[in-house]
Amino acid sequence: MKRILVTGGAGFLGSFLCERLLAAGNDVISLDNYFCGSKKNIEHLMSNPRFEAIRHDVTQPIHLEVDEIYNFACPASPVHYQHNPVHTTKTCVMGAINMLELARNVNAKIIQASTSEIYGDPLVHPQSEEYFGNVNTMGARSCYDEGKRVAETLFYDYHKQYGTEIRVIRIFNTYGPRMSVNDGRVVSNFIVQALQGEDITVYGKGDQTRSFCYVDDLVDGIINFMNLSGSEIGPINLGNPGEFTILELAQKVLQMTNSKSKIIFKDLPQNDPMQRKPVIEKAKNLINFSPKVDLEKGLEKTIQYFKKVLEK
Ligand SMILES: NC(=O)c1ccc[n+]([C@@H]2O[C@H](COP(=O)([O-])OP(=O)(O)OC[C@H]3O[C@@H](n4cnc5c(N)ncnc54)[C@H](O)[C@@H]3O)[C@@H](O)[C@H]2O)c1
Repeated sequence: MKRILVTGGAGFLGSFLCERLLAAGNDVISLDNYFCGSKKNIEHLMSNPRFEAIRHDVTQPIHLEVDEIYNFACPASPVHYQHNPVHTTKTCVMGAINMLELARNVNAKIIQASTSEIYGDPLVHPQSEEYFGNVNTMGARSCYDEGKRVAETLFYDYHKQYGTEIRVIRIFNTYGPRMSVNDGRVVSNFIVQALQGEDITVYGKGDQTRSFCYVDDLVDGIINFMNLSGSEIGPINLGNPGEFTILELAQKVLQMTNSKSKIIFKDLPQNDPMQRKPVIEKAKNLINFSPKVDLEKGLEKTIQYFKKVLEK
């Protein structure tokens, strides 16, 4: 049994991690400032004596006796991370420093939630870990993209300089229950619009592609990589390599919700990547990572979740 800290524990991914790590018999501490996460995401865990929740901002240092840290605190949707871009960069960079210092002080192993956004608007397709990326330093997405890039660099440098035991994963578009209703991420956006009979907003012509990973598959990959013994620190891509256009996704959601909503087209936001698809060979070889939930099955579960949330 380990004592494990999950930063961003009340968020979409963090709450699933808390749940799974508890189920495996560990003591789990969720740390969150509730900027875009919700206590609702962890309320079912609160009665478990092995679970604790702390309100704290990762931009401030903290001392906790833990064996492992999952560093997931950071707004992930453009609506949230562009709300206060300076704080987003601080969350990425100071959050990484504070959590790496904690790991160094208590000799904990630490995994960083990095992102496919570090590849920017990629000039190479699909994206493997060797690709350095194509990122703008002064665009609307830069606070997140560049913040996450610096965070990765800090992880590698703490490992080199201090021997901190690290892991870095680059997460590609992941969806599922507990995403927030109005954070503007494409899957939740389309489902909520379809269920409420509102127009479905597709940016550009909808021919940009994305890959969509269901949360259960991703969480398997994260925990397996954290538990992998040996010297591999990453980065590794984690995501589902199935590739769909945004228009295809919109049509699938419409059909699966039996919605009468119309698809409308709006201007493409600045630096919106045209293509995204992970190469996952490295994760396959290292941890046998192979997403099992196809888009239709995953959408079904997510639609059920949003139906319940919107009924309340
Ligand atoms: N979901 C995805 O598709 C995806 C893709 C790539 C990377 N990621 C990364 O995974 C992590 C979790 O993403 P998510 O989808 O669960 O997002 P989310 O927004 O649902 O969760 C993020 C959580 O972090 C908390 N948080 C934000 N700033 C904080 C701060 N300064 N101090 C403490 N807590 C703070 C929020 O309140 C929230 O609970 C993020 O680091 C994100 O960059 C997610």
